[in-house]
Amino acid sequence: MQRTLITAALPYANGYIHLGHCAGAYLPADMYARYLRLRGHPTLFVCGSDEHGAPITIAAEQEGISPRELIERYHRANAEAFARLGISFDIYGRTSDPHHYTVAQGFFLELLRKGYLVEREEEQFYDPVAQIFLPDRYVEGTCPHCGYEAARGDQCERCGAYYNQLELRNPRSRITGKPPVVRRTVHWYFRLSAFQRALEEYVERHSRDWKENVLQQTRSWLRQGLTDRPITRDLDWGVPVPLPNAAGKVLYVWFEALLGYISITQRWAQQRGIPEAWQPWWTDPETRYIAFIGKDNIVFHTLMFPAMLMAHGGYILPENVPANEFLNLEGQKFSKSRNWSIDVRDFFADFPEPHAVDALRYTLAANLPETRDADFTWQEFAARTNNELVAILGNFVNRVLQFVQRHWGGRVPEFAPVELLQEWERCAEAVWEGASPELSSAWTAEERLFLQELLQGSVHIAQAYEQFRFREAVARTMGLARAANKFFNDTAPWVTLQQAPARCARTLFVCLQAVRSFAVLCAPIVPFAAERLYGLLQLPPQVGAPNDGVSGEDLWRNAASPKLPVGHQLAAPQLLFARIDAERIERQRVKLYGGAAPMNTSDALATVEDLQRLGLRIGYIVHAEPIAGTEKLLRLEVDLGTERRQLVAGIAQRYAPEQLLGRAVVVATKLKPARIRGVESQGMLLAATAPDGTPVLLTPEEQVPAGAEVR
Ligand code: 2FM
Ligand code: ZN
Repeated sequence: MQRTLITAALPYANGYIHLGHCAGAYLPADMYARYLRLRGHPTLFVCGSDEHGAPITIAAEQEGISPRELIERYHRANAEAFARLGISFDIYGRTSDPHHYTVAQGFFLELLRKGYLVEREEEQFYDPVAQIFLPDRYVEGTCPHCGYEAARGDQCERCGAYYNQLELRNPRSRITGKPPVVRRTVHWYFRLSAFQRALEEYVERHSRDWKENVLQQTRSWLRQGLTDRPITRDLDWGVPVPLPNAAGKVLYVWFEALLGYISITQRWAQQRGIPEAWQPWWTDPETRYIAFIGKDNIVFHTLMFPAMLMAHGGYILPENVPANEFLNLEGQKFSKSRNWSIDVRDFFADFPEPHAVDALRYTLAANLPETRDADFTWQEFAARTNNELVAILGNFVNRVLQFVQRHWGGRVPEFAPVELLQEWERCAEAVWEGASPELSSAWTAEERLFLQELLQGSVHIAQAYEQFRFREAVARTMGLARAANKFFNDTAPWVTLQQAPARCARTLFVCLQAVRSFAVLCAPIVPFAAERLYGLLQLPPQVGAPNDGVSGEDLWRNAASPKLPVGHQLAAPQLLFARIDAERIERQRVKLYGGAAPMNTSDALATVEDLQRLGLRIGYIVHAEPIAGTEKLLRLEVDLGTERRQLVAGIAQRYAPEQLLGRAVVVATKLKPARIRGVESQGMLLAATAPDGTPVLLTPEEQVPAGAEVR
């Protein structure tokens, strides 16, 4: 059976993994790995930390710690974050592993021996104060193309131009801020240019399967003509160049990090006690190799790495590099420095409940930046959770299990006539051969419609995974859950229970089989929920978890077949998902906007009239009392000069009722009244958000009369 090696870009161990990283590469790679394992294909999913290079040394300097301390912290934290997120790596290794040094150095020597590395003396910036050569990211200056003043060493962040660092205008060292001098230094260059033709052929061979964004970038590099690239650097943190005349030189981080995929696979084999077990994954031409990455890593995986592998010989090349675009956060780019980010570990700190990880995975998966940038918003997180996971999928599972619990003591009810089951099985086989399911007229119209959708759905979802259309796979999966609810509604088992008990049993039998289908079909998306669902069905969980790369049964092919036997005992029903309430979402938004407060200039701007429409006025609090059964809400009465208004305000965490009496506040008086916990609020108090998320009332600096206008 088809063997598939999956890698996901090795993230730098210089910061915490955030949701943007997950949507870029790790979640789709995991969904793919789980899907293939459920198909029974031998699958190996390899990743690890990238622990060298300027990104690490710069971050360590900024934090005032050693590179080693830095990578220890982030490697551990990120390994844990991935595990909690259910990213099913067979191994999460690291490039500081001594075995990786051996592999990378061996590769370097082999390329040297084959004549693909050439030693060249070149001019480079040198910081005379810090006494080191400045690798690209260590120099900053004005872009020679667009004039951007904070352009980095070899690439301009603004216009995207690549250049030689010596072309930068007004260069300065990022270590000391001083202008560098130019000195000569020796480096080894990889003869990438020698692979121009072979790479062109390689890319065109795959042009039908690769994504448009991947092809475009790769072809544009090929059109410009590939040039030889230095693959060593003057640095002391990294894999040393294994030659006698190379003190103080290390392998360029990209050169060795890519080899991390191989060294980490070898580590996996060693850990299993079968050191040679890595070989088929990397050397058997029958193996498919799929490299998941974000869009900033494309040419390294479609040109540089394949060229390195060709130069060495004996390795297979990536068959596909399904790179995603970027995920934005509430309309703006993720940025650690501007505090505009959601780290996976912060998410788990605030949403520790077991359902939340599935909700996060589902929200990200439903909206992956597959063909264009996508946006994560907290509101969408709540909406997808509440309106889709809870209200559609969770609801179907729950109503079916409850009904069977109540009326059949949790046992799978009778299905008659049994011959129809064979027909169902036959159709379930036939759909995989491309036939549309032909269900006879012995089925009811509702049954036919639903079973056809279920049978074909399992095939269409499989096709979507195979073609890296993960959003479509997710949408189709939820679409089936919608169809299942419709089937339940249309067949109205609560009516047939009395009038036609055999029919009712048959409906629930069909529904239960569909519940089992969802356990299989949802596993790549929400593996923890799928595991709970197997528990409710009293079946051993099979959620595409790592299995040492061995082949197995094709569970997916049977996903839509009636495999739950009549009489099978189910567990007591429990909710599969839980709602996320608005208040928690609001707290997250406050945390995000409070921490960074970037103004979104692209939003439509309000006018002065808009502000006046709120009717902002000064009022005096004349009465305050808690609202029973709530922790945060107070019922207030406010004197606005001409009238008294009742308001509901969520300020009880900070203010006791007696502190508020006589206090001047700003009230929005022209809002539509709202009922909150049964109490009408005839307006709204204005408050600022403190760093801990609690509200602080706004009060005029001097005494002003009740009803005074606020402008
Ligand atoms: O962009 C990054 O985070 C890089 N560390 C990716 C490296 S992928 C491969 F080289 F390992
Ligand atoms: Zn530029």
